[in-house]
Amino acid sequence: MKDVNVGICGLGTVGGGTFNVLTRNAALIAGRAGCNIRITRVASRRNRDDIDLGNIAFSTEIFDVVNDPAVDVVVELIGGYETARELVLAAVRNGKHVVTANKALIAVHGNEIFAAAEKAGVVVAYEAGIAGGIPVMKAIREGLAANRIDWIAGIINGTGNYILTEMRAGREFTEVLKEAQDLGYAEADPTFDVEGIDAAHKLTILASAGFGVPLQFDKAYTEGIASITPYDIAHAEQLGYRIKHLGIARRRDEGIELRVHPTLVPKSHLIAQVDGVLNAVLVDGDAVGQTMYYGPGAGDEATASAVIADIIDVARIVASESKLRVPYLGFVPDALENLDVLSMEDIQSAYYLRITALDRPGVLAKIASILSEHGINIESIMQKESEVKDGRIPVIILTHTVQERQINRAIEELEFLSDTDGPVVRIRAENFN
Ligand SMILES: NC(=O)c1ccc[n+]([C@@H]2O[C@H](COP(=O)([O-])OP(=O)(O)OC[C@H]3O[C@@H](n4cnc5c(N)ncnc54)[C@H](OP(=O)(O)O)[C@@H]3O)[C@@H](O)[C@H]2O)c1
Repeated sequence: MKDVNVGICGLGTVGGGTFNVLTRNAALIAGRAGCNIRITRVASRRNRDDIDLGNIAFSTEIFDVVNDPAVDVVVELIGGYETARELVLAAVRNGKHVVTANKALIAVHGNEIFAAAEKAGVVVAYEAGIAGGIPVMKAIREGLAANRIDWIAGIINGTGNYILTEMRAGREFTEVLKEAQDLGYAEADPTFDVEGIDAAHKLTILASAGFGVPLQFDKAYTEGIASITPYDIAHAEQLGYRIKHLGIARRRDEGIELRVHPTLVPKSHLIAQVDGVLNAVLVDGDAVGQTMYYGPGAGDEATASAVIADIIDVARIVASESKLRVPYLGFVPDALENLDVLSMEDIQSAYYLRITALDRPGVLAKIASILSEHGINIESIMQKESEVKDGRIPVIILTHTVQERQINRAIEELEFLSDTDGPVVRIRAENFN
């Protein structure tokens, strides 16, 4: 059996997990890969006491890995944008294949990296970045290759999902966020997770591979979960819906929708059952219908599982000297379509609206009339006498699917009414039809 030499950059959570699983399962991985995958070099800012590197060369300089002629595959697990970009491009220039778990890098610099890799004839694989241990990129790029994919929707940030799950018990966002930080689920700076930026990185990549379009992270819409209240969660539940922080990408004739925001999903749908830190991605293909991929979206060995699957794919190419490659985004570069990301005013969605109305006769009729004037049909309406407070009563409305432009204009008029008070709360809803 041939040897394929791997160099790991970054020995943190995922780097350590990758080292441990590759070492522990070396024999069975060799049996699957048809070659021996040997870690020959590791570089990280610090060495770890809990990992026995044995004879493996260690340095604190990550560029030692890309400059080592004996290394066939560079595994980038340092994270971040700029140094990771330089590292990956240097590896590619040196003719090395790359495996990374860095979704931020791929979402932002992927077009440049893939073009360079295409030129150099090397693979840059990134499965682990999208949904940790869930092999969803493999499913989209290979398993679903026969399909026209019309939409993708996913719970692709475990921290946000944990927070929304815990809030169903009536707890406030800030309290649960603090708990998530104490448990190590959320970073000290939780912005990327709770504002939807991390999910948007992943969604950008999913959409590109699903629809065959270049990566357009800068045009993705993100809305976080900090303004979601236990009140709206409870009332959505009463309407038969659950609030999830979803990444949604939809292919339309005029462009693609690329958006991350809190979303009401039917409680009866499988994705509503995905709780805690777990992730799930729903993909709708014209031939297969809806498929869902579910599991751990993070964690040292769960993420290593996906990193190593990519290493095995690459090792087979190295060992067999094959020229056969699955295209980076699932489509050969010439087949990528320049479909633009649609503005949010042009997206189509159903909506949950919470309007604070003055408790007087005729208000409901005025609200219904404004919605009707904007072509918005009401799916259900909820108003409870028991919730009257200081002469005000919440009116909760679920609409049919309309264009966001229509809802925006209707909300402007609703807020202008003398019979309503304060801003209208608006949460998008999805029925997955
Ligand atoms: N954690 C997960 O569950 C998970 C899941 C999916 C994807 N990912 C992605 O995987 C990547 C790694 O994440 P992680 O959680 O393993 O991060 P981490 O625990 O912070 O590990 C990063 C490692 O790289 C080292 N490092 C960073 N910059 C370096 C540099 N310039 N030179 C040398 N060493 C450097 C760090 O050293 P110091 O500690 O000394 O700074 C640390 O050992 C990220 O792109 C992340 O988004 C993570």
